[in-house]
Amino acid sequence: MLILNKTAGVFSKPPKRKVYEFLRSFNIYPGTLFLHKLVLGIETSCDDTAAAVVDETGNVLGEAMHSQTEVHLKTGGIIPPVAQQLHRENIQRIVQEALSVSRISPSELSAIATTIKPGLALSLGVGLTFSLQLVDQLKKPFIPIHHMEAHALTIRLTNNVEFPFLVLLISGGHCLLALVRGVSDFLLLGKSLDIAPGDMLDKVARRLSLIRHPECSTMSGGKAIEHLAKQGNRFHFDIKPPMQRAKNCDFSFSGLQHAIDKTIMQKEKEEGIEKGQILCSAADIAAAVQHTTACHLAKRTHRAILFCKQRNLLPQSNAVLVVSGGVASNLYIRKALEIVTNATQCTLLCPPPRLCTDNGIMIA
Ligand code: KG4
Ligand code: ZN
Repeated sequence: MLILNKTAGVFSKPPKRKVYEFLRSFNIYPGTLFLHKLVLGIETSCDDTAAAVVDETGNVLGEAMHSQTEVHLKTGGIIPPVAQQLHRENIQRIVQEALSVSRISPSELSAIATTIKPGLALSLGVGLTFSLQLVDQLKKPFIPIHHMEAHALTIRLTNNVEFPFLVLLISGGHCLLALVRGVSDFLLLGKSLDIAPGDMLDKVARRLSLIRHPECSTMSGGKAIEHLAKQGNRFHFDIKPPMQRAKNCDFSFSGLQHAIDKTIMQKEKEEGIEKGQILCSAADIAAAVQHTTACHLAKRTHRAILFCKQRNLLPQSNAVLVVSGGVASNLYIRKALEIVTNATQCTLLCPPPRLCTDNGIMIA
């Protein structure tokens, strides 16, 4: 049953709460008194249970998060019913914690915003069911949120970015390139025709058994690839970037994954090791796959920038490219994109790493 402590369980000292209430209702414009609008954001679209409270000026009052990464690393990928169960076990505690660290009671909320799509249906269902019960219990408005739109707009919390701007979202579940013309006005320019880059990197990391590598055992696949790539030589493998002749801004990563699979199999034979053991050439393979991924992302983004500029969809100078999603935390990939933005007189912006990956703040 859904029970959220009305006082969020933190107000053991009433005078302090009075101070907070006063501060919240205090306005810098003398003679007027207004209450800040506070939105609770809830995110359960994939493998993170996250919640946060943000006010209408973008101030983050508090957040809480439970990551399932460790469990999914052990099972070798996300198993939707397992993710669902973990969301169920954690959502109430996480929402409670977000409210507690924000030092607000549920009744002070102005609205509840929750990711409704896209994502894993079973995971999304947990957040949605919980939110709708809360909405009913508290009699607050509900704001349905598109997960990708939230990722795309997060940059406006930390930077003063005007519309229109270009956004590249690269994560474990998504890969898209869009022109953001307004808060809910997006022009999709390109998407992955198969799997997302993070998914491909996770699969390569699993095939290389990087979980058994002493330096990478707690890292996500993409992070493990980035870590190992620093010790490798990409020139030891020649892996062609996908879709070199395609005259559009779409992406593809499954061909790359299969090419790497073949390379790994070949190397296992050469090094005389079994599947599951770590190859001597693992770091070189990581460097090659990271480089090919970066080139592919950079080339398709370059096409999109040129297309937008030709059609005056973006300003001719100082146009902004925002890159977000878990894969955007990869510094090698960022560097490749920076080469493109420098060459096209654009500015590359990435939200800070904790806002690049899934979180409750972007939803709120
Ligand atoms: O945005 P995110 O937290 O979740 C969704 O997929 O929506 O992204 C997670 C993905 C995983 O595939 C993970 O391997 C990848 O982002 N990732 C990275 C890095 N850190 C996380 N990929 C490349 N380099 C990284 N440093
Ligand atoms: Zn995401």
